[in-house]
Amino acid sequence: MSDDRRNSQIAATPLGYALGARIDGVDIRTRPDAATVAAIEALWHEHHLIVFRGQRVEPNGILNFASAFGPLDDHASTPAYRHPEIPELLQVTNREQNGKPSETRNTGRNWHSDYSYTSRPAGGSMLYCDTRPPVGGDTMFANMARAYETLSPKLRSIVDDLEAVYDISLTAGIGDRDPAKTAEVKRLNPPIAHPAVRTHAKSGRRALYVSERVSYFAGMTVRESRPLIDFLCQHATQPENVYRHQWQEGDLVCWDNRTTMHMALADFDQSEPRHMLRATLIGEPSGYVIS
Ligand code: SIN
Repeated sequence: MSDDRRNSQIAATPLGYALGARIDGVDIRTRPDAATVAAIEALWHEHHLIVFRGQRVEPNGILNFASAFGPLDDHASTPAYRHPEIPELLQVTNREQNGKPSETRNTGRNWHSDYSYTSRPAGGSMLYCDTRPPVGGDTMFANMARAYETLSPKLRSIVDDLEAVYDISLTAGIGDRDPAKTAEVKRLNPPIAHPAVRTHAKSGRRALYVSERVSYFAGMTVRESRPLIDFLCQHATQPENVYRHQWQEGDLVCWDNRTTMHMALADFDQSEPRHMLRATLIGEPSGYVIS
């Protein structure tokens, strides 16, 4: 089939007011060509989050599809969370690992953007739902470009000048994980400062880059920073700025970490399996380590 024919079949249906669209006309088992990647990326930039439904793929199939969009992270910042055979896939799972509770059974329980505690924060993330609980296990996403644009001009000019210090210790639930593995993850990821507002390298959109994993703003005290961090997170996560995804098995949800943040909800029976696999596109280098 010609590129034009193939791409004319790709259609987006909005899922939420603030962000999110379902994409039809793509079979993720086929590696997309350059024109298809460009067509999908344009929709991804427009909607910030896109969903491919009803796809059933093996782990290598996710890798094959995701890697068409750019270099994938090997998740070396969080070695304990990787797929045992495919380092480019992160497991977000409550399945036991080697007879022990999974280190990622409570991943993503507060608002964050992926790998913001590293100097290579994620560009896009692509999360595949292999197994979901009968009820719940939803994920919420907030549009951080809209959050920025809906601040007053005065506050925008203030946050434009701030650097947010990210601390992996503020990852919700990290204290419940294996102490040795957590110590290693903390050693690999010391606190790092990023601009509190970032410009998307491809779309040019400016977006707030502040989440619940920010401990303070560089040059300000924790006490001074806290109310502003709290305000910005509350502002960004107002219901009208959020899309809540109710997973179906075979969903591939792709979000842009440069213009969104997300939170995985513990709104399900934890004895029910939830097994997800994530490919992470490497983003632009950013930030500096706080010594
Ligand atoms: C993540 O934060 O990347 C995982 C989100 C989820 O499990 O829904």
